Amino acid sequence: MSEYRTGQGWDVHRLVAGRPLILGGVTIPSEFGLEGHSDADVLAHAIIDAILGAAAMGDIGMHFPDTDPRWKDCDSLMLLQQTQAMAVARGYHIVNVDSTVILERPKLKDHREAIRQRLADTLGLELDRISVKFKTAEKVGPVGEGRSAEAQAVVSLQRMGSGPFRES
Ligand code: C5P
Ligand code: MG
Repeated sequence: MSEYRTGQGWDVHRLVAGRPLILGGVTIPSEFGLEGHSDADVLAHAIIDAILGAAAMGDIGMHFPDTDPRWKDCDSLMLLQQTQAMAVARGYHIVNVDSTVILERPKLKDHREAIRQRLADTLGLELDRISVKFKTAEKVGPVGEGRSAEAQAVVSLQRMGSGPFRES
C-alpha cells in the first residue's frame, strides 16, 4: 500500500544591489540579488516549505531559524537536502516538484535547464520529476516594480507501507 501527500510552499525576498541572485542553487547574472539571512534562494525555500507541508512537519523557520548563525549566508540546497532527509526518515519520498519563480527581470528561461538539473542532482531525482516555471508580475506590485521576487512550489510525496503515520 502507498500513500500520497501534497504540499504547497511560498516565499518572498527583497531584491537589492550587491547580492547574488541565486535560484535553485544557480547563480543568475543580474544587477540585483536577493537579500536574506541565508543565500536567500527563494525557490529552494518554497520547495522546502512544500516538502514540509506535504509531510505536516511545520515550516522552514521552525527547522532553520534565521536567527541561527549556522544558516548565515548558507547554501539553501544544503537545507533542501536536510529537509528531504527529514521526510525520508518518516518514510516519505518525493514524487515530483512543480514550481514558479515570479521575477520581473532578468529573463530566466535560458537558465531553466541548469536550475532543474541542480535541483534534480540535489534531491537525487530524475530530471522529469522537477518542473521550474517563470512569470513576471506584469510590472504591478512590489514584484512587478522589481523590489522583490517570489516563488511558489507544490511537492508530492509517496509513503510506502501501511496506513497514515501517527506521531508518537
Ligand atoms: O509573465 P509573463 O506571462 O509575461 O511571462 C512570459 C514568459 O516569459 C514565461 O512563460 C517565462 O517563460 C518567461 N519569463 C522568464 N523570466 C522571467 C519571467 C518570465 O523567462 N523573469
Ligand atoms: Mg526565504
